[in-house]
Amino acid sequence: MPNEPQPELDWKDGVIPVARAFDDPYFSLAGGFQETRHVFLSGNGLPDRLCDGFHVAELGFGTGLNLLTLALAWAQTGRPGQLRFTTFEAFPMAAEDMARALAAFPEAAAIAAPLIDARRAGKTEFTLPGIAVRILLGDARDTLPRWEDRADAWFLDGFSPAKNPQMWGEDLMAEVARHTAPGGSFATYTAAGHVRRALAAAGFAVERAPGFAGKRHMTKGRLAGAPEPA
Ligand SMILES: C[S@@+](CC[C@H](N)C(=O)[O-])C[C@H]1O[C@@H](n2cnc3c(N)ncnc32)[C@H](O)[C@@H]1O
Repeated sequence: MPNEPQPELDWKDGVIPVARAFDDPYFSLAGGFQETRHVFLSGNGLPDRLCDGFHVAELGFGTGLNLLTLALAWAQTGRPGQLRFTTFEAFPMAAEDMARALAAFPEAAAIAAPLIDARRAGKTEFTLPGIAVRILLGDARDTLPRWEDRADAWFLDGFSPAKNPQMWGEDLMAEVARHTAPGGSFATYTAAGHVRRALAAAGFAVERAPGFAGKRHMTKGRLAGAPEPA
C-alpha cells in the first residue's frame, strides 16, 4: 500500500499474526472465527438485524476476518440486497500476510479472493458477494472525525485498550457515537471500565455481556432512537 506503513508481524504457533508494535494478536488465540461471531455479530444483534443497505463500520481492519465472517453470515440469511462495510485502518497488512492469517479459517479463506486481490492491487474499495467494502486508511483519530456517514453497527476491534489506548479514548468513542445511526449499536471484546464509561458518556446505553471462551465479560450498547427504515 503506498504511503501507509505495513505492520511488522510475528507469527504465534506459525498461524496467528501478532503486531510487533502493539505486542497483541489480531484475533483470539482461542478461535478467532467463533470469537467474531460471538462478540461482533451477536453483540450487535446480527445477523437478525441485517437487511439491504445495512451499514457496518469497524475500527481496525487487520486480517479482514471480521468482514469475511459477516459476509458468510449475510449469505446464510438468504436475504436479498447488499450490505455496506466501512473499516478504519492505519497499518494495512500486506496481501500475503492476510492470506497467510486467513488460511487458518477455511470457510473465510474460501471467499477471501476479492479481498486479497484488492489489497494486492492497492484498492481500498471493492465488493465481496453481497457487501460493498471501503477501507479508510490512516489513523482513525484523524479519519473518523472527517467521515461523512453513519453506521448501523460498529465492530470496535483496535487491539486491547491496555496495548493500544489510542483506539479507545473518549474523543474517539464520541466520534463513534456521532457516526452511529439512531438505534445503532456497537460491540467489543473489552470490558475495560474506562471504555464503557467513554461509550456511555458518548450516548450509548452500555451493557456488559458474557465474553468469549473464558473471558468473563465483553461490552455492547445501543444508541437511543428508532432504527431508520432500510
Ligand atoms: C485486533 S486488530 C483488528 C482485527 C481485525 N478486525 C480482523 O478481522 O482481523 C487491530 C487493528 O487496529 C489497527 N490500528 C491500531 N491503531 C490504529 C489507529 N490509531 N487507527 C486505525 N487503525 C489502527 C491495527 O493496525 C490492527 O489492524
